[in-house]
Amino acid sequence: MSTESPVGTPSPAAGPAKIRLRHLQQAKAQGRPFAMLTAYDQFAAQAFEAAGVEVLLVGDSVGTTVLGHSSTTATTHQDMLTFTGAVARSVSRPLVVADLAFGTYEAGPTDALRHGVELVRAGAEVVKLEGGAEVAAQVQALVQAGIPVFGHLGFTPQSVNSLSGHRVQGREEAAAQKLVDDALALQRAGAAAIVLELVPAAVARAVTAALDVPTIGIGAGPECDGQVLVWQDMAGLSGFHGRFVKAFADLRTDLQQAAEQYRAEVGARSYPGPEHSFE
Ligand code: KIV
Repeated sequence: MSTESPVGTPSPAAGPAKIRLRHLQQAKAQGRPFAMLTAYDQFAAQAFEAAGVEVLLVGDSVGTTVLGHSSTTATTHQDMLTFTGAVARSVSRPLVVADLAFGTYEAGPTDALRHGVELVRAGAEVVKLEGGAEVAAQVQALVQAGIPVFGHLGFTPQSVNSLSGHRVQGREEAAAQKLVDDALALQRAGAAAIVLELVPAAVARAVTAALDVPTIGIGAGPECDGQVLVWQDMAGLSGFHGRFVKAFADLRTDLQQAAEQYRAEVGARSYPGPEHSFE
């Protein structure tokens, strides 16, 4: 019998020493929401691990949040390998999920498998890809090779151009039904969880009820099994204030004030002081 306390308990110390897929599955079964945050570097990843965040996503959003691109379509496979390695080397408890970059899986299962294997070699424990039934064969190939997969439905950022920008998906009845059908197709193919992005709360609730595997929402209301945010939005560093974002800190102001103070003290020769200098 397991002596582990479940995921979603108030103190991470009371939960499992290492988060596995089965803990997310248990969390869904027991109605205990879990938290996922993006992470791309050592110190942020370690802070989120210390906070007890169960899942870290090395998102292809690294392209827009770290590398200065305007779309995740610019994020490369090499970018994903670099940042996945940085996060995976820095933490031990959270489940580390990495995105398959745009252009690395759409051509078919062979391509998806090759890039998925490289992400796992870099440290990913799960890979995530965007799309519904049209990528089910890729999901199946990865899962058969022993690589767990998360799906991603609703607004799929790598398709920003064909979706005509960042827009809520699944508002019309047919589109909502397609979301449920796509989620079921991904689950049948072996997906272990599905991210739902920019989806009406009622549709996310229906998808969540239809699936055995967990859903993880971003702009998809409160009834998903887990929630995910881009960390720079969550911490008030990016300055992005989309409706679905709550900034739990004001890091942008804090960082700017620290830099202003540093600059002022350098200018006034009050830093470095004797206590920062060597005899
Ligand atoms: O890349 C990313 O950050 C994501 C989240 C928006 C879920 O895929």
